[in-house]
Amino acid sequence: MYKKFIDKLEKQGSLSFDEYLALIEHRDEVREYAAERAFAVRRRYYGNTVFIRGLIELSSYCKNDCYYCGLRASNKNAQRYRLTAEQIFFCAENGYELGFRTFVLQGGEDAYYTDELLCGVISKIKACFPDCAVTLSLGERSTESYRKLKEAGADRYLLRHETANEAHYKRLHPKAMSFENRMRCIYDLKALGYQLGVGFMVGSPFQTEEDLAREMLFLKELQPQMVGIGPFVSHRNTPFKDYENGTAELTTFLLSLIRLTLPRVLLPATTALGTVDPMGREKGILAGANVLMPNLSPVGVRKKYLLYDNKICTGDEAAQCIECLKNRIAATGCEIVTDRGDYRYEL
Ligand code: 5AD
Ligand code: FES
Repeated sequence: MYKKFIDKLEKQGSLSFDEYLALIEHRDEVREYAAERAFAVRRRYYGNTVFIRGLIELSSYCKNDCYYCGLRASNKNAQRYRLTAEQIFFCAENGYELGFRTFVLQGGEDAYYTDELLCGVISKIKACFPDCAVTLSLGERSTESYRKLKEAGADRYLLRHETANEAHYKRLHPKAMSFENRMRCIYDLKALGYQLGVGFMVGSPFQTEEDLAREMLFLKELQPQMVGIGPFVSHRNTPFKDYENGTAELTTFLLSLIRLTLPRVLLPATTALGTVDPMGREKGILAGANVLMPNLSPVGVRKKYLLYDNKICTGDEAAQCIECLKNRIAATGCEIVTDRGDYRYEL
């Protein structure tokens, strides 16, 4: 009965709030069909290729205090590190040799990373590896800063909105953070011409099925080029330590709905998904995801970038992860490619 909603979604690329909600509520009935259609749609635009992004976690310092995150400023047990501009460049160089053509510079909100420092690294990476894309994931910054970073050569920016419901946003963040500023950043990035990525956690505390239906409407309206979603995974040293983790089942179902809503979207099967389910990333790919973001950070700092407990791949060299992922992805019938993996505007 709900299959016809999936068909309608595939055909028109959107549903009403009530239809999305009905699908989410009755997901067990349609999950397989939704995944099958989402996989077919992704094939239409991207074939069986899976894009890889080399993730460089440049700093575990963060001025924010989000209730869910292990890197929150109040977590005195967190081990802090920051990579110098030179170390960041070395990670990219190593990644280039391994076949990466996109580098994601991600970190907590850390004032050490001035516009000047970042512009220097971005322009150096772009000059040495002109066939690569640089993606930034450095949180909220000023309009002016986003403009300078774009001018220095940054191509894409990932800034998860975390939830499209302002009241929910307030329950996940302390007073010093506002939904309004998060949205200001997102619309700035879009206006500046970045390929934009937003996203949210699945199963975060206080999230309802109605919130998830609203997420789909928000994404449809915003039309981002990338959407990053992963299950909430509790971290022992945060206020949310006793909350249940989000599930792989709900996350993969939402990946399918997102693929059907935004057919060309670049959609990662995240590390968090691989953390709650050992086959999570493969299931994500089979449900419509087409991106993986293995870690390029130096192995010595990996265990210090812990957003949540039990994070996978923190002990492995990037080369090992690539080998592992190639095998895992081959088993899904897909293939990892060496490519910038840009959003497909035509076709
Ligand atoms: N579980 C899952 N995802 C998390 N993030 C932060 N903390 C957690 C957690 N405990 C996600 C947020 C953030 C991204 C960098 O990681 O969505 O935007
Ligand atoms: Fe890192 Fe498998 S992807 S070990």
